[in-house]
Amino acid sequence: MSANNTTTVYDYDILIIGSGAAGLTLALKSADFAKVAVISKGELSQGATFWAQGGIAAVLDDEDSIEDHIADTLDSGAGLCHRDMVSHIVENSGACVKWLVEQGVPFTTVSPDEAKEGAARAPLKPDNLAPLHLTQEGGHSHRRIIHATDATGRAVFETLAHRAKLSPNIDLFENRVAIDLITRKKLGLEGEQCVGAYIFCPSTGNIDLFRAKFVILATGGASKAYLFTTNPDGATGDGIAMAWRAGCRVANMEFNQFHPTCLYHPHAKSFLITEALRGEGAWLELEDGTRFMPQFDARGELAPRDIVARAIDHEMKRLGCDCVYLNITHKPAAFIKEHFPTIYSRCLKFGIDITKDRIPVVPAAHYTCGGVMVDKMGHTDLPNLYAIGETTFTGLHGANRMASNSLLECFVLAFSASEDIRAKLATTQLTDDIPGWDESLVTRSNEEVVVSHNWDELRRFMWAYVGIVRKDERLQRAKRRISLLAQETDEYYKHYIVSKDLLELRNLVLVASLIVECAIARKESRGLHFTVDHPGQLDKAEDTILVPRNALLNNP
Ligand code: FAD
Ligand code: SIN
Repeated sequence: MSANNTTTVYDYDILIIGSGAAGLTLALKSADFAKVAVISKGELSQGATFWAQGGIAAVLDDEDSIEDHIADTLDSGAGLCHRDMVSHIVENSGACVKWLVEQGVPFTTVSPDEAKEGAARAPLKPDNLAPLHLTQEGGHSHRRIIHATDATGRAVFETLAHRAKLSPNIDLFENRVAIDLITRKKLGLEGEQCVGAYIFCPSTGNIDLFRAKFVILATGGASKAYLFTTNPDGATGDGIAMAWRAGCRVANMEFNQFHPTCLYHPHAKSFLITEALRGEGAWLELEDGTRFMPQFDARGELAPRDIVARAIDHEMKRLGCDCVYLNITHKPAAFIKEHFPTIYSRCLKFGIDITKDRIPVVPAAHYTCGGVMVDKMGHTDLPNLYAIGETTFTGLHGANRMASNSLLECFVLAFSASEDIRAKLATTQLTDDIPGWDESLVTRSNEEVVVSHNWDELRRFMWAYVGIVRKDERLQRAKRRISLLAQETDEYYKHYIVSKDLLELRNLVLVASLIVECAIARKESRGLHFTVDHPGQLDKAEDTILVPRNALLNNP
């Protein structure tokens, strides 16, 4: 580490931007052979991982099979999944679960009573593991989801973060915002590759230089592009935007997954009601108690998410109502409290006793299926830049992600990327002639209101024009507004000292433009992309691949 007046220079083998399931897994898997830095925009826990509820899909039950998990994933993905990637991820699910258990994640196990009743089907025990309880979610033809009651993400995060804090080879940097990647080409050097990143520290105002042999984007999704979302505030698509600016291709950004059941309450910000509740028997009802899902799909409440979210949207628009209801009151109160303690206590705070009352719910933006294009090892188009987790497009999810496949994808890609880096580390050098950040041409802004107003405007029209049901005219309207916001944000960025909000807005505007561009390009309705102007499905399923003007040739 070295420093001048505003820039501190850090050197690492691996720089990981993001401290969720993907980033922390890669850090832990690499700490025995590399010096690793993990950067997180807020506190370490502030990614989506901490909030994951339902669990992790994995083939553990002897009545289940790899083939069935693959077939369910392909079915949910509506013809767009990449079969080889699906196989790679599903085949590695058992190894990931074994590793997570070894790390100490306290997954829910089958109670003796449940085992006796056979209700929760004790799964196959992978070597030395206690039988884990398996729950059920939409699109899965088996009970296949391991979980830690209804707070799986928190259990995973806390275990991995605890391990990372203990590791002498992992340095954790909280409250640091990655601004942009540094590439040899941008520096005018031969042999294009990613060589580090500029990282903003809001508490000091400094912009530090992190030089690294390998850089990993593990920055999560972009659901904050929408007014209503289940995601935490940091889900602003920073990794997608940084990769795009560095010349990497991005794909399938039109597939924004809307989770069907987010708690509808004026004081509850973004609280998800897990699909596992429906997996354990909860029904979706209208105000008058009518159960409506069976009219939309034979699988009822357990149809894939795109179908359930659209059905709710349809019923809400048809009846002009603000929400629908999720009802699990027909299950024993003790069962509900044991399996869903987080949801029970959170709803109780809002005066809803889920053992007796129905839960008001609405759909909300939940998951970004598209992202930075990567291969099985997490390689992006830019040499020495990897991407893993929700920030990527791997081909696993196709046009609609199946529940609980995303955490699994984080672990498998982190494992593969770590192995790939291990093999290359000894022959890779740091680039050390990198200049510090230049702030000589910018001043401090006294008009922060522009940033907050543009944030708000973007998220509102994305919700209204690029939501669950789309239309060509609305997409064009969104495109025109985005181009104006992009112009304003760019000017602001060029003239004023950066702030976290400005950096996030800059990324969100860019990502919104990628979403709209992909949505306009898809002239059919498939999976999560439904448009009234093109309701049918084309015979050939094709990805929407966007290529930046400064595109690189090293395609994965
Ligand atoms: P995240 O966990 O989102 O972490 C992103 C990290 O990147 C954060 O540390 C953030 O601070 C950092 N970051 C971002 N930008 C920057 C920047 N510019 N500079 C520095 N750091 C940055 N999936 C399942 O499989 N099962 C579930 O049960 C499930 N439940 C869910 C419930 C909720 C409420 C939500 C929101 C999602 C759920 N998902 C679930 C989806 C899943 O949680 C996410 O896809 C997954 O956790 C993403 O992990 P990640 O590591 O890619 O990113
Ligand atoms: C949920 O628990 O319903 C979320 C699961 C997921 O997003 O995979």
